[in-house]
Parts: sequence; C-alpha cells; structure tokens
Amino acid sequence: MLGSYIAAGLAGAAAVSATPVAQWGPPHGYSPSGSQGWGAPSNTASASSAGQTPFTFPLPNGFPTVNNALLHDIAEAAHGSLPNAPLATHLSAGSVTIFELIAFNEIFEVAFFSSLINNITNNVHGFEIPSQVLRTYVLDTLTAVLAQEETHFLGANGILNASGNAGIEPCKYVFPTADFDSAIGLARTFTDVVLGTLQDAQAGLAANGDAEYIPLIGSVEGQEGEQNGYYRSLLSLIPSAAPFLTRSAAPFAFSALNQNFVVPGSCPGSANNLLFKSIPVFAPLTVETQNIQLKDQAITFSVKTNSSDSDIASYSVVFINQQNVPVVAPITNIHTNGDVVTFDAFYPAATLIADALTIAAVTKSKGPFASVPDVAAATLFGPGLIEIN
Ligand SMILES: *[C@@H]1O[C@H](CO)[C@@H](O)[C@H](O)[C@H]1NC(C)=O
Ligand SMILES: *[C@@H]1O[C@H](CO)[C@@H](O)[C@H](O)[C@H]1NC(C)=O
Ligand SMILES: *[C@@H]1O[C@H](CO)[C@@H](O)[C@H](O)[C@H]1NC(C)=O
Repeated sequence: MLGSYIAAGLAGAAAVSATPVAQWGPPHGYSPSGSQGWGAPSNTASASSAGQTPFTFPLPNGFPTVNNALLHDIAEAAHGSLPNAPLATHLSAGSVTIFELIAFNEIFEVAFFSSLINNITNNVHGFEIPSQVLRTYVLDTLTAVLAQEETHFLGANGILNASGNAGIEPCKYVFPTADFDSAIGLARTFTDVVLGTLQDAQAGLAANGDAEYIPLIGSVEGQEGEQNGYYRSLLSLIPSAAPFLTRSAAPFAFSALNQNFVVPGSCPGSANNLLFKSIPVFAPLTVETQNIQLKDQAITFSVKTNSSDSDIASYSVVFINQQNVPVVAPITNIHTNGDVVTFDAFYPAATLIADALTIAAVTKSKGPFASVPDVAAATLFGPGLIEIN
C-alpha cells in the first residue's frame, strides 16, 4: 500500500492544465550569468562550520533508499503513513519545481535532525541534557520529527515520480551549530522560512492549475507549525509567534539552504531537476546587529561585493514581516573594507509590531513592492533572517 505511493501514479488521475504559469520560475529580470550560482556559505555559517566533516547520506538504515519494511518502520516512527490516495500523472513545470524545492528542503531537514539526534544520543559536548526526563522527551520528539520529515521527503519525491519527473537526491551538508540551544534556535528559524515558503507553494499550485495538492501543503504547514511551537517553547518563547506568519518566496528559501548548509557542488543528479536551473541563489546578506529587539532602530548588514559604494547607495533594503506590504528603507552609513561592505537600514519594528520572522533583502530598485515574489524578483543579496520574540 505504502509502496504504491513511490511507484508510478495510478492511471486515470485527472489531467491538469498544460499551460505553465511560471510562478516558481526565475523571477522576472533575474539573469543567471550575473548570479553567484552555488554561493559560498555565508559569514555566519563558514565561521563555525569551517573544517566540519560534512553530513552524508545514506543513513544507517539505507534512507533515502527504502523498501516496504523500512517504509513501515518510518510510518510507525512518524505516527502515520504517506497518503494512500492516487497521485496526479501530470504536473506543470512550475509545480515540478515546487515539489523539487520541498524535497530539497526536507532532505536537508532529515540531515539536520539526524545529526542533532546523534549528538544528543552520544552526549557530544554542547548537546548534553542532564535531566533524564527531559532528555528522553526531547529524543522521543525529535525521533518522530525525523521520521515525519523523511515522510515529507518521500511524499514530495513520490509526487515527482508519479508525474514522470526525477526526484531530488541528497547533497552533503554542514551545520553552523555546535550546541543544543543554538541548534534549536536554528530549527526554529529554518522552520519559519519553510512555513513562509509553503505559502508560496500553495499560491504557485493554484496559479499552475495543480490545486489538488493545496490541501496536502496545508496539512504540512500545520505539522511544521506544531514542531515550531515546541522549538519556541524550548527557547522560552511563547509557542505561537504572531497572528499571521511571515510570507516567503522560493528564491529566499533556496538561497538560504545553499548559502548556509549545502556543500557547494555536492548535489548529484542536480542536472535532472528544474530547481537548479530555474530558482536563483542570491549573494549572502549578513545581519550584523545581534539580539534584535522590538524597537524602531537602524539595523547593520554586510555583504561581500566588488560593487562601488555608489551602486550600494542606490540599492534598498526591504523588510518582509507577517502578511504586511514589504517595507522599503534606504541604505545609509556605508563603509567599505576590501570586498566587505557594511551599511545600515532603518527598521521601524516597534511601530509595525514586527514580531516573529522578518526576511530582509537588498534590492536593486526602491519598489514599492506589492508582494513578496516582487521583492524576490528585484533581490541582489538575501535573505537576511531576523527573529524578534
Ligand atoms: C553535531 O555536533 C557536531 C560536532 O560539534 C557539529 O559540528 C554539528 O553541527 C552538530 N549538529 C547539529 C545539527 O547541530
Ligand atoms: C520512478 O520510480 C521508479 C521506481 O523506483 C523508477 O524505476 C523510475 O525510474 C522513476 N521515474 C523517474 C522519472 O525517475
Ligand atoms: C572581487 O574582485 C576580486 C579581484 O578581481 C576577486 O578575486 C573577488 O572574488 C571579487 N569578489 C566578489 C565578491 O565578487
């Protein structure tokens, strides 16, 4: 039963519109030749992950290769199975990219939570949890999360396979975290980015004529939201961050994954996937200001670039928070040191009550931007990820 999900889809599934809407295609105006491709890890990641032995697949149980026995074990650990409904035998190109990005993210999460569970289980320095009750509860929780992320990955690849498309294969990964608290903090932030990007996936599926998968994505959003409430609780934050969670767009998620975690050039089979050709990887944007509080304030950023100061001065910083119209701020206080440029942008976070995730991006135009995909289409550097409360 479960195996049928990752085999070809059933005949007779409804054919969908063949007119692709390039919702998840390259943002308008994006030029691959001007991009950084597989960008170097951002300053934050390279600082602590330098010299780390990359995490590689397969897992000890053989994952991501699965047979029916392993699928059954994963389903038991995940407290539920892959959906057993028939899958569409055709997907528009934009929707293929959507499920490729979902699988690309989920397999990173499988790597991250495998590494975290190993570290806690082996009492790696920085990951010791002295309370046995809490340690057992954390491991039980993360073991279920790992199996649930494995299931999300197999589900996305199953949808690709049923529609005749190559699945995503694992890359090699590094993690910038070396202790439990920062690993949970990172899980909270990348889950916030996922929760924003799945909104983009739903909009893309609707625009592409593949609406039958929108409820499935909604079920994953709720699931990831449950996870994030737990990570936030561990960090002594209230579980529910804000009334409406922050919108993201595919290029911000793809850029963040590549800039921070994916070993450059380590993704086998990437030539078989549209994702790597159609979604840009921006140059990294480092948020220099630490411990950002809910107040109106100048935020300091840095980028590595050979652009002149006058180019930088003509760019803007855009702040994206919750479901509000993106806020555009001019760039001020520019300092250049070699190829590192530091600058400020004013963020009225208290006035906007901008709790939860804010996505910052440096854009080549001043906007105004009606939507988050419009911001992504004009982005040069990003995303800078800011969490308040
Ligand atoms: C696990 O521990 C190693 C060694 O400290 C570290 O490099 C890696 O980032 C840790 N994994 C996670 C997910 O934090
Ligand atoms: C779909 O999965 C089957 C079974 O693993 C495999 O033989 C086939 O090549 C896959 N199709 C594509 C397009 O990758
Ligand atoms: C800036 O230019 C130098 C010399 O041409 C080059 O080595 C370096 O990679 C460039 N840096 C960036 C960020 O483009």
